[in-house]
Amino acid sequence: MTNSIKTLHVNLGLRSYPIHIGTGLLKDSELIAPHIHGNSTVTISNTTVAPLYIEKLHQLTEQVSNIDIILPDGEEYKNLTTLEKIYTEMLEARCDRKTTLLALGGGVVGDVSGFAAASYQRGINFVQIPTTLLAMVDSSVGGKTGVNHPLGKNMIGAFHQPQCVIIDTETLNTLDDRQLSAGIAEIIKYGYINDLEFIDWLDKNMEKLLARDPEALSYAIYRSCEHKAKIVAADEKEAGQRALLNLGHTFGHAIETGMGYGKWLHGEAISAGMVMAAELSREHGWINDGDVKDIRALLKKANLPVDPPREINAEQFSKLMSIDKKVQDGVLHLVLMKSLGESVISSDFDKKALQKVLARQAS
Ligand code: NAD
Ligand code: GLY
Repeated sequence: MTNSIKTLHVNLGLRSYPIHIGTGLLKDSELIAPHIHGNSTVTISNTTVAPLYIEKLHQLTEQVSNIDIILPDGEEYKNLTTLEKIYTEMLEARCDRKTTLLALGGGVVGDVSGFAAASYQRGINFVQIPTTLLAMVDSSVGGKTGVNHPLGKNMIGAFHQPQCVIIDTETLNTLDDRQLSAGIAEIIKYGYINDLEFIDWLDKNMEKLLARDPEALSYAIYRSCEHKAKIVAADEKEAGQRALLNLGHTFGHAIETGMGYGKWLHGEAISAGMVMAAELSREHGWINDGDVKDIRALLKKANLPVDPPREINAEQFSKLMSIDKKVQDGVLHLVLMKSLGESVISSDFDKKALQKVLARQAS
């Protein structure tokens, strides 16, 4: 029925779950069936993804009753208003605690739906069916769910693990090029956290990824999910090393919030943010000019931005970064590169050097 399926596991004791990766998985009802415990489902998607894939999903779940909740498309709708709409529709449909929620879409649909699942009647089961590269390699795995607040990205949310993640790589065929590149930013991130061999592979295979070569995409998705699953299993609620997954994110979230949600794609902001983290690491002498040049070159090769928007000045950056979740007890923690391919979480960085990077980047 489907081509070869690769399965990974996020090992979290009783809350462990599989990540299935393959082409045509939206035709395989056996993958999803074990994760629908009650006799009803709610499929949450958006106005772009639903017309493309919701019918396929319905065919997999036709043995149970289902309602669809179709959200407007865009990061600007990842908010409490959308969440309230979801709660209202679920209450009106008399969804109970055995209802299983199916999140069909990119990271926005996944994050909002996951938080709805975490909070509806104090928590119901949900399945992640990511349809963007970014959601496949990052947001659908690990149980971070939530919405944005006008004052900060992802400020309202909960940890709530899915029952299962089903990655049908065929859905990437309808994704536009800019979104594909945004997903590649998160893939590159895993390499700079702790896998230089993967960076080498990415450098050699970037053209294939951009051309959507199925084997290259499948390999990159598998290897990224493998990294993510390992880190999440070791530190589910980000008491320590999970924060490494935020390489580039404190700078990137400032860009997303500062520019207005939706202007810069998340992956694009993370790309420029990774370069800023690299620049600050170079200021400390941990990596060198050549390393920064290589990082910029790889991100450029993936058609990603490597400089932050000029619209945000150093003072605005500082302010936006001060409300990041990486601020603890008033102290900002950043993910920096101790050496190339070895990222660390640090609050012990030179504040003047940070100002220098923020000023130079935004000039
Ligand atoms: P997105 O969900 O906005 O999707 C990008 C665009 O692609 C949207 O217009 C969407 O409708 C469209 N789309 C989705 N699948 C498609 C397909 N197969 N074909 C055609 N179009 C398709 O953006 P994203 O990049 O997937 O996710 C970004 C969000 O994920 C951000 O809100 C970010 O904060 C969040 N995120 C969360 C985590 C986490 O751990 N929870 C990690 C990383 C990012
Ligand atoms: N995307 C960061 C995390 O899942 O922890």
